[in-house]
Amino acid sequence: MSTVVFLGGGRITSAMLAGLRLGKTGHRLVVHDRNPGKLRDLKKRYEVAVESDLKSAVKQADLLIVAVRPSSVRELLRMVGQDNRTLLAVSLAAGVPLRVLSKVAGSHMQWARAMPSPVCRSGHGLTALTFPRTLPRAHQKRVRDFFASFGQVVEIPESKFDAFTVTYSCSHGFHALATLARAAQESGLDGNTALLASAHALADGIIAWRDGKHSLDALLEEATTPGGIAEATVTAMDAAGYGRVVRQGVAAGLRRARANASK
Ligand SMILES: NC(=O)c1ccc[n+]([C@@H]2O[C@H](COP(=O)([O-])OP(=O)(O)OC[C@H]3O[C@@H](n4cnc5c(N)ncnc54)[C@H](OP(=O)(O)O)[C@@H]3O)[C@@H](O)[C@H]2O)c1
Repeated sequence: MSTVVFLGGGRITSAMLAGLRLGKTGHRLVVHDRNPGKLRDLKKRYEVAVESDLKSAVKQADLLIVAVRPSSVRELLRMVGQDNRTLLAVSLAAGVPLRVLSKVAGSHMQWARAMPSPVCRSGHGLTALTFPRTLPRAHQKRVRDFFASFGQVVEIPESKFDAFTVTYSCSHGFHALATLARAAQESGLDGNTALLASAHALADGIIAWRDGKHSLDALLEEATTPGGIAEATVTAMDAAGYGRVVRQGVAAGLRRARANASK
């Protein structure tokens, strides 16, 4: 049994632990965080081992998961210091590149980056991974297998990581749901029915695409009869700048990813 150590016991660690427990992981799980209250809570909820001493936590790791905010990564890695064994580490920190991680941590750590989402809690999420070319294949497989144990995995070049991070946020679904439900309510539906109808419209449509039987174009064509209500709605949304607004949001997210990483 190998030991996976999480540095940072916040939101994403909590979601990953839930997904790992759901998948009945065979790994021993250890969490380090500077807040004793968070450690107590994680221990109770997910039956993980907790370690309040950073160096003792790192010493136990066969695989290290760095799950602190981007602005805390450098400080944390400096506190970890050097060790005389090579350690495989995965950073979840948005926007912090592999070259920065290697430079700050030193040569005893070999890095990969991963971008999961809190929906991995259900065991159905998606995680993007990126590896440096120099990372041995056996290490790549260990990282891939770990993340695949609680959802789907895609490998992308590091240059695409920020774009993936901005795109792959469940906030898009919640935001679209809230916006559609608000418009439905303004059109006369009561709050509950507006939310229910909007949620089914978004979720059922996306599940139909995910089944993989039809392309997105085919599904969109089927749902928008020429001269019909859906066609009028979609056309008016596009004319009002729906595509432009979404592109502007994505561009703002990219700018924020770069700014946060440089702090
Ligand atoms: N949340 C997501 O949906 C998500 C998805 C993918 C990737 N990520 C990435 O995952 C990382 C963590 O995100 P999060 O949302 O889980 O953040 P979070 O909830 O703030 O959790 C981070 C935890 O690490 C602790 N911490 C910070 N510096 C530390 C240090 N030097 N020693 C020990 N503990 C320390 C924090 O304590 P304090 O509260 O005292 O600062 C906090 O408990 C980020 O880099 C983010 O980009 C997040």
